Amino acid sequence: MGHTVVGVDNFNDYYAVGLKHGRVESILRPAGVVCHAFDLCDEQALQELFAVTQPDYVLHLAAQAGVRYSVENPKSYLQSNLLAFGNILEASRQHRVKHLVFASSSSVYGSSDKTPFQEDDPTDQPISLYASTKKANEVMAYSYSAIHQLPITGLRLFSVYGPWGRPDMAYFNFTKKILLREPLEVFSNGTLLRDFTYIDDVSEAVTRLLFKEQAAVGKVPYEVFNIGNRRPTSVLDFIRILENLLGVKAILEFLPMQLGDVRITHAGTDKLHKWIDFSPDTQLQTGLSDFVTWYREWHMHDGAHA
Ligand SMILES: NC(=O)c1ccc[n+]([C@@H]2O[C@H](COP(=O)([O-])OP(=O)(O)OC[C@H]3O[C@@H](n4cnc5c(N)ncnc54)[C@H](O)[C@@H]3O)[C@@H](O)[C@H]2O)c1
Repeated sequence: MGHTVVGVDNFNDYYAVGLKHGRVESILRPAGVVCHAFDLCDEQALQELFAVTQPDYVLHLAAQAGVRYSVENPKSYLQSNLLAFGNILEASRQHRVKHLVFASSSSVYGSSDKTPFQEDDPTDQPISLYASTKKANEVMAYSYSAIHQLPITGLRLFSVYGPWGRPDMAYFNFTKKILLREPLEVFSNGTLLRDFTYIDDVSEAVTRLLFKEQAAVGKVPYEVFNIGNRRPTSVLDFIRILENLLGVKAILEFLPMQLGDVRITHAGTDKLHKWIDFSPDTQLQTGLSDFVTWYREWHMHDGAHA
């Protein structure tokens, strides 16, 4: 679309740094994206980058992710999800960007059993610190938008998977263990239901949202959207599809439900579809098949790092 794109990541070691650099080398650099390495908590570095690049649009995805890790290491969530987010809001306000889009999470819906989740459902009882930082981002963004008339959009992402994904997520770990013939830890007897969303669908939705003008006249220019696949699948069914694609039977070790986990996630996407004429729809079989192809190749070349 003729835009110059600049990225920032602190390349922290929450998971294999080689995978993070691999994404830069394989996806970003060939597309002409220049990537800067610094921490978004460093307000001065961020301000300097904004001053030099004068961005029109800001897509903020950096965060400390993971529900379970937030029980062990709360501090990194306070730093990366609250302080860094505050710096992004402030820089975006000062430089009057046209649109700030940021990643929230389906976890803001807490342990709600009322499905599908709709954007106007209650989200004031998050059951992990991770979820509460994402909820905090939404309300901080709303107030910046209201006070400064800054167009901002929040993305409630639902279990994103695919090539170059996050190795701490269950699907990634399952694949690794199935291939190594090691037992998989399956919580809640595999009955947890997740709305797995394929990465290319997320990219499509985010690109459409970023460049969509908000009809701001007379209202706060803030919106939030579910980005999910509308089809919750049990973790056990998910494992069966993976087994078939890998051609190896999984060894299952059933464990009780974990702290902070929710029973079901299920995205209602009517609002998204009305707004951008698109909603995620890739079948698990198709998306996982692409993931498995990528995984095998990555491990052949760089497996030691992931
Ligand atoms: N993957 C999912 O299923 C999912 C679901 C819901 C929400 N999200 C949200 O989507 C966003 C992207 O998720 P992801 O799965 O790609 O996670 P990821 O961990 O792969 O990507 C986040 C990146 O941010 C960087 N980062 C973290 N703290 C930083 C800081 N202080 N300064 C600079 N860089 C920093 C990390 O190094 C990492 O490369 C996150 O905000 C996450 O919370 C993801």
